Amino acid sequence: MTLTINGTEIARSIRSRVAQRVAETAATGKRPGLATILVGDDPASAVYVAAKRRAIRQAGMRDFHRHLPRHASRGEVAAVIDELAADPDVSGILLQLPLPAQLDAGPLIDRIPVTKDVDGLTTASVGRLARDEKGLRPCTPSGVIELLDAEGIELKGACAAVVGWGALVGRPLAQLLLRRGATVSIAHEFTADLASVTRTADIVVVATGVRGLIGSEHVKSGATVIDVGIHRTPDGLVGDVRAAELDGIAGRITPVPGGVGPMTIAMLLVNTLRAAEWDSARAALSV
Ligand SMILES: NC(=O)c1ccc[n+]([C@@H]2O[C@H](COP(=O)([O-])OP(=O)(O)OC[C@H]3O[C@@H](n4cnc5c(N)ncnc54)[C@H](O)[C@@H]3O)[C@@H](O)[C@H]2O)c1
Repeated sequence: MTLTINGTEIARSIRSRVAQRVAETAATGKRPGLATILVGDDPASAVYVAAKRRAIRQAGMRDFHRHLPRHASRGEVAAVIDELAADPDVSGILLQLPLPAQLDAGPLIDRIPVTKDVDGLTTASVGRLARDEKGLRPCTPSGVIELLDAEGIELKGACAAVVGWGALVGRPLAQLLLRRGATVSIAHEFTADLASVTRTADIVVVATGVRGLIGSEHVKSGATVIDVGIHRTPDGLVGDVRAAELDGIAGRITPVPGGVGPMTIAMLLVNTLRAAEWDSARAALSV
């Protein structure tokens, strides 16, 4: 029998623990705050930012939001980031991607201080992950690790296949799994025989953006399958995995929706809290 991993429930439990911790820190006078920056009016980005802001407020954190027009210049966006970077009330900064075509995301992301980089996407944060140093890790891959931990799946010594090595999910996830003692294989669009990589894995994580890529021929009996993909269809959201085919083959599987998606927002709250605590620890040290 294949068990469904309830990401919604696991995320709810994390969010309530964050809210409790926020209430405790608020009692000492400091309330964590997240600044979201949205440039332009892309409808999907607006929906994502609204959901993140709602979650931040529900956790009792402060919600700082900046909306810049579609044609904002590099200098205008940079000035907003610099102002938020200098504001001690702002614990974390999130620059919603993608940016309009005239803006180069990399240099703007890199203006976010490493202690406020709640998306974990700055060069400094990526470097800290690679060197296994303290830092904020990208939300979706950390959410995948939390899901595996919540399900009690042993990572040390496990064989994990990560399908897709994108900068947002696959690449950082492979590093997080390695750090936890898994033996990690990474497959991508040029992998000649995908099934030969995934069929030996105890854990298969799929983050490719290719709808229905993974099916019964790719998964060994009893494996855990984590589907990061999200595709909107007339029948609702679906993932990168043909979930129905894996019923009775996979040991555990994340549904879409209700698997990895809710974890991404939960981990944004965790990162905002960690950023606030990191900042106060630094402030205390410099006294
Ligand atoms: N659930 C969430 O919260 C969440 C968050 C971020 C991304 N996503 C989803 O995860 C997916 C991946 O996102 P991303 O930003 O990492 O994408 P990306 O475009 O950066 O990377 C895609 C990767 O998939 C690989 N790939 C493409 N075709 C392949 C194939 N046929 N076989 C094997 N590998 C193949 C590419 O080589 C690439 O490494 C998307 O569907 C995205 O919507 C979900």
